[in-house]
Amino acid sequence: MERIVTIERFILDNQPEYAAGDFTALLYDIALAAKAIAAKTLRAGLVDILGQAGSTNVQGEAQQKLDIYADQIIAKLCDHTGRLCIMASEEHEEIITIPSGYQKGRYVLVYDPLDGSSNIDVNVSTGTIFGIYRCLDWDHRGRLEDCLQPGNKLIGSGYILYGTSTMLVYTTGSGVHGFTLDPDLGEFLLSHENIRIPEPGRYFSGNYSYQDYWTKGVKIYADWLAKGGEVEPPLSGRYIGSLVADFHRNLLLGGVFMYPAQNNYPEGKLRLLYEAAPLAYMIEQAGGYASDGRRPIMNIVPEKLHQRTPLFIGNRRLVEEAEILIAANP
Ligand code: AHG
Ligand code: MN
Ligand code: MN
Repeated sequence: MERIVTIERFILDNQPEYAAGDFTALLYDIALAAKAIAAKTLRAGLVDILGQAGSTNVQGEAQQKLDIYADQIIAKLCDHTGRLCIMASEEHEEIITIPSGYQKGRYVLVYDPLDGSSNIDVNVSTGTIFGIYRCLDWDHRGRLEDCLQPGNKLIGSGYILYGTSTMLVYTTGSGVHGFTLDPDLGEFLLSHENIRIPEPGRYFSGNYSYQDYWTKGVKIYADWLAKGGEVEPPLSGRYIGSLVADFHRNLLLGGVFMYPAQNNYPEGKLRLLYEAAPLAYMIEQAGGYASDGRRPIMNIVPEKLHQRTPLFIGNRRLVEEAEILIAANP
């Protein structure tokens, strides 16, 4: 029998000696939120969580009840612990301040509470994506500026995948590590230590129904991926419609996910702050690369909370080919 390492044990064993414990405790809080959300997703068909809440979010997207539940669980678990100075969520138009009665902390939490939510009602994997920054200055209770930091300022990021099993995968800058929830124990146990994206990539993920909306360079790239180009062995198409699920498969097996700028999303569909940048940090820690088609996602400084970006993410070779073909075919 392998050694049994809980996520709490692993985080504690790997926290830097100088850590005051707040960052470690924040990761625990996220793991607890993940368990609460997982419990609901497992019963999505049984409790009145299915279906739309009747509201729309800042993106103009119909909010699913599980979106709102996941958002509230994370915000309410984290707003009073004294670890955070501010939060930002896909489901909130503005920043989420720390209520005045509570002590403010040193970290910023940005998150997509439920990614792939259009898949909830058809029992397809969904996820949560999060990123952690340091607050920029101690004199304020947390401001928009604390959230508008580029990916290369992240000190932690990760995702939870509510799939055939529930996994929490995160990095704090020392590799990418995966934990699988043991529903009997109610604990996340270390299952994938130091994940590295395998070479060569095996899959490509993209919504090819939009190819008429793509630029010439993206079309050439998409053909290159689909026909295998010089890529040996040729890639197989896999697209789930949940970024976290597509990302996780490509991280474990090798591949590239793309959501380019296109007519119906001129800036791309995915959000820089709480989707692209946290995953870009992870893929780089796992030996891959993430680009907006021209430059590293990690270098893009957000100007708005819900700013969208084109996203190409996965094996470095496959993503760099996108940059080459897009630049050569403006
Ligand atoms: P969210 O549910 O957080 O809005 O994210 C959905 C995103 C992403 O998960 C997925 O890759 C993409 O939307 C799918 O978009 P299309 O349906 O346009 O392909
Ligand atoms: Mn999302
Ligand atoms: Mn979402």
